[in-house]
Amino acid sequence: MSTTLQVVVDGMFRQGRHNLAVNLVAENGQPLPCWQPGAHIDVHLREGLVRQYSLTGQSDNTRHYQICIARDQQSRGGSRYVHEMLRPGQVLRISPPRNLFPMQLAGKVILMAAGIGITPLYAMAEALEAAGVPFVLHYYVKQRGDEAFLPELSKPFQHGFCEIWHSSEGRSPRSHAPAELLDPAEDTHLYLCGPAGFMSHIRATAIRHGWQEQHIHTEAFKPLSAVAAQDEAGFTVTLASTGQQWPVAPGQTIATVLLENGVDVPLSCEMGMCGACLTRVTEGEIDHRDTVQSAAEKSAPEQYIALCCSRSLSRNLVIEL
Ligand code: FES
Repeated sequence: MSTTLQVVVDGMFRQGRHNLAVNLVAENGQPLPCWQPGAHIDVHLREGLVRQYSLTGQSDNTRHYQICIARDQQSRGGSRYVHEMLRPGQVLRISPPRNLFPMQLAGKVILMAAGIGITPLYAMAEALEAAGVPFVLHYYVKQRGDEAFLPELSKPFQHGFCEIWHSSEGRSPRSHAPAELLDPAEDTHLYLCGPAGFMSHIRATAIRHGWQEQHIHTEAFKPLSAVAAQDEAGFTVTLASTGQQWPVAPGQTIATVLLENGVDVPLSCEMGMCGACLTRVTEGEIDHRDTVQSAAEKSAPEQYIALCCSRSLSRNLVIEL
């Protein structure tokens, strides 16, 4: 299992109407591990509540990490906890940074963010500025006053610039496409972050206008597996403690089956990314589909399964519950 770090909430700052930036410093006062733009951390907000947040700001700063969280009306707990309960001075556990959205070297970079998708892209803009790589950042928000990091994004950059677009003024991502998107240049890469609908719309527009797939990058905040349910085999899951056994049908997750049968499963991301549901397997062969464990962990003698997404290659799996 990867180790966690103890950090202290060192400051919280309002960022536009609905967002809160949170600064985290190591509890022991030491520098935090280095990170690259696009990286995220798992934040253990309280027992059983783990959320992934992109690191933002200047990535050469290891004295503190900054994350930024939108108030989400549909919150499953994380956003509400941050906005209503989290306070400066509180100690939290976090994972070391992991990067599923790394930036590649390119002649020029177009960054497009919607809403809180600005967090990794703001870090990318700062890194591109520091590296002298030309960039443009297009940032879509609903209305004036919603922007996070407004002073930072409004400052003059030497190597790029930021354009902020407001849907309330007729420039939503659907109705407005920046010139760079419609006219792809060679050696230019496009990075997208925001709601799934925004990313699929921009990606489709880009492809229609001649962008190559490999030049378009979005955050892989989803399970690795894309195996269609009809191609999956069913299996049974057995509890080591009681011997109770239930079938897991194609398309179902082990976690769903256990919950339906009254077994308490600690869940958080439900995407194989946070490790909240990792459980030891004592018999059977795991079809690992999580991204939280390393390749070495997935082939170690002691095996753990992400109950929210992984499946079984054997007919039966005995789990230590
Ligand atoms: S709930 Fe996050 S890995 Fe399963």
